[in-house]
Amino acid sequence: MTTVDPARAVVDVITGTWRTQALYAAVKLRLPDHIAAGCGTGERLAAAAEVGPDAVVRLMRLLTAIGVFGGDDTTGYTLTPVSDLLRDGVPGSMRDMCLLYGEEFHEAWGATVPALRTGRSGFEDAFGRTLHQYLADEPDAGPRFLRAMNAGGSFFAEVANGHDFGTGTVVDVAGGSGMLLSSILLAHQGAHGVLFDREHMVQVAKEHLTTTVAGDRFDVVSGDFFESVPTGADTYVLSRILQDWDDRRCVDLLTTVRRAMRAESARLLVVERVVDEDGARLLPLLFDLHLMVMAGGRERTMAGYRSLLAAAGLRLESVRDLALETSLLVARPV
Ligand SMILES: C[S@@+](CC[C@H](N)C(=O)[O-])C[C@H]1O[C@@H](n2cnc3c(N)ncnc32)[C@H](O)[C@@H]1O
Repeated sequence: MTTVDPARAVVDVITGTWRTQALYAAVKLRLPDHIAAGCGTGERLAAAAEVGPDAVVRLMRLLTAIGVFGGDDTTGYTLTPVSDLLRDGVPGSMRDMCLLYGEEFHEAWGATVPALRTGRSGFEDAFGRTLHQYLADEPDAGPRFLRAMNAGGSFFAEVANGHDFGTGTVVDVAGGSGMLLSSILLAHQGAHGVLFDREHMVQVAKEHLTTTVAGDRFDVVSGDFFESVPTGADTYVLSRILQDWDDRRCVDLLTTVRRAMRAESARLLVVERVVDEDGARLLPLLFDLHLMVMAGGRERTMAGYRSLLAAAGLRLESVRDLALETSLLVARPV
């Protein structure tokens, strides 16, 4: 067994946010895009990003040491598969996720102690309103948030291919960007889709679905899932939704969905991270705290999801693992 120097362990944890902010700075300054455009040396990168050459070389030295970039100042910096994903506009780009986590989410994490004390989200403490209110108020915040959500959506194809949507109607409740729904509709040519979300969020999905799926295969409906969702569909999807709410609100919204499920054969697909009873997997634990800080929400154990579903008249039927330690839970009406 190797012994870990406890002081070293503390320093390793403390410096975690420095990595985040170094990566954020590189993305904000578009260093991956400048390298892709041929600005390999520190001097050329500094000129392109309008920063000091010594500073940029020091930033690049750290990010190269942790595998984000390759090469060096003499031979020229290169992209690695990691920094390739940080370019603007490439398929699966994680640029917007880096920006959101480095800006608003970083600031909200600064209010972790008040969040622990009050039960209100750190985001509210930092920005004076909830995350969802902020998305409604701030021009461009909604589309930026949805692009960041897409970057963490590498499980979309697994959901689309991992369930038989048949030729029925699928309602993606609070479906955000529409990317999950388009993946489902492209994988199941006979299915019809309904994207449901808040009025201020649906424009992104409308544009995305219009360019990816034939116009007669989907509808976009706006509303509040605590009041009602489109009724009578064969499949309902709640992807990364329960995570934003406390148990009482989750039961409210699951009850709305349950009421909309008219047929015995209707199914609800829930996509969430599951906290292991023994806390084995780290990502669900990290996101559990992240959701407390961002939205006053949480990740749950399997028992937690079962009990929410049961309170709304639903029963868990199956579970499968997806990418990024996410799970697909399929529930049926009791
Ligand atoms: C974390 S995002 C998840 C988006 C998408 N399902 C995904 O997995 O990428 C949460 C979504 O819930 C929507 N939302 C929040 N409150 C809502 C409400 N009361 N009614 C309908 N949608 C809501 C937000 O607009 C946002 O699109």
